[in-house]
Amino acid sequence: MDWGMKNRMSKLIKPKTGKAVWLAVDHGYFLGPLKKLEEPNKTIGPLLPYCDALMLTRGVLRNCVDSDIDVPIILRASGGNSIVGKVLSNEGITVSMEDAIRLNVSAVALSVYIGTEHEHQTLINLSKLIDGGQKYGIPVLAVTAVGKELEKRDARYLSLCCRISAELGAQMVKTYYCDDFPKVIKGCPVPVVIAGGPKLDTDEDAFKLAYEAIQEGAAGVDMGRNIWQSDFPVAKIKAIRAIVHENATVKKAIEIFNSFKNKK
Ligand code: 5RP
Repeated sequence: MDWGMKNRMSKLIKPKTGKAVWLAVDHGYFLGPLKKLEEPNKTIGPLLPYCDALMLTRGVLRNCVDSDIDVPIILRASGGNSIVGKVLSNEGITVSMEDAIRLNVSAVALSVYIGTEHEHQTLINLSKLIDGGQKYGIPVLAVTAVGKELEKRDARYLSLCCRISAELGAQMVKTYYCDDFPKVIKGCPVPVVIAGGPKLDTDEDAFKLAYEAIQEGAAGVDMGRNIWQSDFPVAKIKAIRAIVHENATVKKAIEIFNSFKNKK
């Protein structure tokens, strides 16, 4: 790996712990103004000091985020679908590498829809984005999307998706936590981070998800709704940070959450 790519990776996955807490706020690219993400600047602002990177689209980055922030950017570079359209898997590359560089991003992210009618198209998209990234030293995060037409979240399917993404050259992969998660980690030669998915019933459930994923080998979390749809998003991300970077238990995370939740 070249120096520039290694340097960008080291901003995303903290060398001190080898782990990462990324805040995902890219959902609007196909879901529109999701609950608690209607005004992205208001959602993102208070959480910025606690995330190791921010994952979002160029539109939200340019319009809703100050350019003097000290947080690396993971730029969503795929799209072209919507929740009310026919299928979610029909994605293309939506950002040129030149614009990603102009935005000084630390990585670009693209979804692959393995097992759908758009499997080939999205894997070729990934390969093209990786070629562009290789040229300029920009790492690519492959997102193993599931979407409304694919609810397979088992280790067999997700390990297939992660391995294929890594084989095509993705420097990092984002997937879902599942039973037998170590199988996913074992089969993937690049760092794997997990999405949180839809908001879970309790805060404890979200802490358990993060804890189990980290203990079983995830490099971190790229979490959205379970943080910013919480009634106490700052307390939530602080507790998640402790799980990821300090090996905190679920019990400890709940204590941290409770101790911060009523603080301004
Ligand atoms: C959508 C994404 C989202 O960033 C991802 O789902 C993470 O957010 P959440 O924790 O809310 O699931 O990549 O394709």
